[in-house]
Amino acid sequence: MLKETLINATEAGARVLLHFFNNKNLQISHKEGINNLVTEADHASEKAIIECIRSVYPDHFILSEEVGELVTSSEYKWVIDPIDGTINFAHGIPICCVSIGLEHNGEMIMGAVFNPFLKEFYFAEKGKGATLNGEPISVSNESEVLKSCLVTGFPYTYLDAANGPLECFARFVRQGIPVRRLGSAAMDLCWVAAGKFDGFYEHQLSAWDSAAGFLIVEEAGGKVTDYKGDRYSPYQPHILATNGKIHTEMLRWINQEV
Ligand code: IPD
Ligand code: CA
Ligand code: CA
Repeated sequence: MLKETLINATEAGARVLLHFFNNKNLQISHKEGINNLVTEADHASEKAIIECIRSVYPDHFILSEEVGELVTSSEYKWVIDPIDGTINFAHGIPICCVSIGLEHNGEMIMGAVFNPFLKEFYFAEKGKGATLNGEPISVSNESEVLKSCLVTGFPYTYLDAANGPLECFARFVRQGIPVRRLGSAAMDLCWVAAGKFDGFYEHQLSAWDSAAGFLIVEEAGGKVTDYKGDRYSPYQPHILATNGKIHTEMLRWINQEV
């Protein structure tokens, strides 16, 4: 029932994305930062997702990007990004998705990420592996950072902090390492899980960006930590998600030890 509800809620959000995509009259408003957008599609997707979850589990805790926390005393918490990749979405770029993670007593037990434009539905359940459209997926085999294909993202602020996002990016790029910037952390994580990217790092994520994707990477055989190499929590900002083989070396690159 939990799995079915997770899938139904993710699909309900994705239908909203399809409905509003490329709509010239899409209503857009701004959060802090001139390019930090929220659209009517984010709100509509969130509403559809929450209604779907609440119709089955009215007492579950919800954390969702636009409405924030809907606090209850439940052991279950749904962590929702109604559109991950909103700027892409608002520009008609189909690298965006719905992302929903489900926690039980503070542990992520299931995650779903659906990009309805590419028709890619990623799902993972703790201990049961990760799938793309129902087929098992696994991370890549690359074992050297210099031969890797990486992906990252940039926050709207803190860009120039010492060893911040730009400095770190420059370190990889100066060595000729391809580092892509796609604009959807959830897609970045799923594409690490699917073996397209060897690693993903970002300096400033929120819980809803990574809740589903980090479990999908782990269940695809990858490794996810903070920048110290400690067990990953979506409630702190740093993320390093890799195929496992380049993880220790990536930590050295990120922490200026190369
Ligand atoms: C953003 C995307 C982007 C990442 C930003 C996030 P949003 O989420 O995941 O890739 O670099 O940090 O805020 O705002 O599109 O849901
Ligand atoms: Ca997001
Ligand atoms: Ca979002």
